[in-house]
Amino acid sequence: MSDTAELIIEGKSYPLPVKVGTENEKAIDISSLRAKSGYVTLDSGYKNTGATTSAITFLDGEDGILHYRGYPIEQLAEKSNFLEVSYLLIYGELPTETQLKSFSDQISQHSQLPAGLEKILAGFPTTAHPMGILSALVSSLTAFYPESVEPNQTEEQIELNIIRLIAQIATLSTWVYNHGKGQPLNQPQEGLDYYTNFLHMMFSAPGQAYEVNPVVVDALNKLLILHADHEQNCSTSTVRLVGSSHASLYSSISAGINALWGPLHGGANQEVIEMLEAIKADGGNSQKWLEKAKDKNDPFRLMGFGHRVYKNFDPRAKIIKAACDNILNNLGVKDQALTIAKELEQAALQDPYFVERKLYPNVDFYSGIIYKAIGLPSQMFTVMFAMGRMPGWIAQWKELRLNKEPIGRPRQIYIGKTKRDYSPVADRA
Ligand code: SDX
Repeated sequence: MSDTAELIIEGKSYPLPVKVGTENEKAIDISSLRAKSGYVTLDSGYKNTGATTSAITFLDGEDGILHYRGYPIEQLAEKSNFLEVSYLLIYGELPTETQLKSFSDQISQHSQLPAGLEKILAGFPTTAHPMGILSALVSSLTAFYPESVEPNQTEEQIELNIIRLIAQIATLSTWVYNHGKGQPLNQPQEGLDYYTNFLHMMFSAPGQAYEVNPVVVDALNKLLILHADHEQNCSTSTVRLVGSSHASLYSSISAGINALWGPLHGGANQEVIEMLEAIKADGGNSQKWLEKAKDKNDPFRLMGFGHRVYKNFDPRAKIIKAACDNILNNLGVKDQALTIAKELEQAALQDPYFVERKLYPNVDFYSGIIYKAIGLPSQMFTVMFAMGRMPGWIAQWKELRLNKEPIGRPRQIYIGKTKRDYSPVADRA
């Protein structure tokens, strides 16, 4: 295979270097194109455009492959835990026992939120969407940790901000939840591991200890691992773009939380469960709703279906679907939403509209059924996605900054009015 591609424009040849990744992905490097030819490329939604080279996560959309730092997601979901996967994504290797203990201990030490943050939280109406509060509180960490705003921080300062974020996103998520319910805020407890502490802060009544169900901890672990990173998706690209201006880690992550909130992205997990509830309330006629999803005149889409990259199946959806039955049976939960979800998937897989467009369940299609069984309201589902994605966002932000990547600034093709002169308002029709 040639290491050069040739572009011919107006009869002139422009040789462009070809880049090949370690998993044989190929790209044409167009970084010199505009200087040489005056042309830019156009690719709305960046469907064919690579923004960077990265060593963190590999996806193969045709074969439904997802690797974190080379490790298959199936193995990590089965055998690892979220803190270990967080370490892997951020530092590049699975930790030794000593490294993992030190990482976990540091996270425990920093899980308390800064004094005064509860006053900012108290200012939000209890009806506010948790994602809006979460992004605001993460951004407010720049006020409590002002050194995090320095563009030229030392490695140690960057590491401290990373530890704080992994630790405090769990506490923040539970505070956002309890604020919405008008319930007291729980503090992290010494001696509890990350998952138990999260569940304690989320669900403990004042003064009572939360009785941990290992099935819930296992489900939480699996879901957080499966959401931990996904290469250059919308919210991660947002974190990288904001980080490329040398904005702080907290500001970059806050922007990523807002991008994730969108119903076409992470917000879909809330939309899916609300869609399944609507179908249940409407009598459970899956075929009727599939027809609606296919109708171009109907704005309804089958939420949790389709993916920009996966054109076969989303390996995460397969794992979550398999976990659904196990977790609901263990928790003794019967949920018609799961039955409806399976019927929709079965019908869609035989329907030419979905097959031709390669639309399959994505990570959001079944995840909400588990979050609901754990006891979370649908507005908290995307907060759980953000908590899971935190190590991935951090790893991608850190990679961009350590690689000293340039500030992101895409070009455009202008299609507006050409030059014209100003006219005084009295002369305008
Ligand atoms: C996530 O990028 C990532 O990695 C994201 C993510 C991660 O981990 O970060 O995986 C997480 O965001 C998963 C996606 C969650 N979103 C949803 O479930 C929302 C429903 N899905 C879609 O809106 C859509 O499928 C997207 C947004 C996921 C992908 O959109 P694309 O790639 O821009 O595809 P498209 O909108 O151009 O659709 C292609 C065709 C269109 O039909 P035609 O115009 O060709 O006739 O497929 C149709 C679309 O109308 N289509 C759907 C559909 N999704 C696409 N039709 C009905 N229902 C759907 N869900």
